[in-house]
Amino acid sequence: MIRLDERLRCAFDLLQGANIVADIGCDHGKLTAALLLDGGCTRVIAGDISPDCLNKTRTIIDRYGLQGSAEVRLGSGLSILAPGECEAAAILGMGGELMVELLQSSPSVAERMERLVLQPMSGIEELRQWLYENCYRVKADRLICVGSRWYQLLCVQKQDNPDLWPSGFPIGCYMVGYRSFVDRDERLKPYCELLLQKRRGQLQQAAGTAGEGRLVRETGQLEQIMKEIERWN
Ligand SMILES: C[S@@+](CC[C@H](N)C(=O)[O-])C[C@H]1O[C@@H](n2cnc3c(N)ncnc32)[C@H](O)[C@@H]1O
Repeated sequence: MIRLDERLRCAFDLLQGANIVADIGCDHGKLTAALLLDGGCTRVIAGDISPDCLNKTRTIIDRYGLQGSAEVRLGSGLSILAPGECEAAAILGMGGELMVELLQSSPSVAERMERLVLQPMSGIEELRQWLYENCYRVKADRLICVGSRWYQLLCVQKQDNPDLWPSGFPIGCYMVGYRSFVDRDERLKPYCELLLQKRRGQLQQAAGTAGEGRLVRETGQLEQIMKEIERWN
């Protein structure tokens, strides 16, 4: 059994039920190995742009004797896949802007995925906005706290129309997931409190600067979410 930290475990859980999965940016290969050993996957295609990272995945594949069901491919993002080759893909631990680039570069692959599990390290708003504007429905949203670090994980699928914007959720707010809000995720409150605290601190320093407008808008959005959460009980 492969030991996964909470972040990778969450991605693993969101991929449950998928048979053929791509692990894009596989690096250490833990997710690839766990999906094959414990996740019921029949095949995993592990891709990475770095030969050294791909070698780490090869090592774990060899260690667990997974050569028959795992395949490694060198290349960028989803370009290593043919459309329809995998029913799901995980893209974890990269910047959100890079994720947008990877999805934009391989639309025929991305749009046929039943599930795309994404975990951006930065650029969360840019990624969420792009997904919304390009009709990727958020099927699941997870907030994970490991030590003092928070992570957002999304499971999305391309649709014909954008998701309905939930009532009460600030229009144009992409800092957190509206699916977490609709599902009344109990982690949303501590996470938004933290974001609000940070934004208020930044706002004090930003008076008169170009970034002030954005901080004012985001602070207002977070205050609105907090008010809505207070009404949940
Ligand atoms: C921080 S590691 C994340 C590893 C693993 N996915 C995780 O979340 O634990 C990021 C990985 O993405 C790979 N990477 C960066 N850009 C990439 C691209 N355009 N296509 C595929 N892999 C990429 C890096 O080489 C590295 O192995």
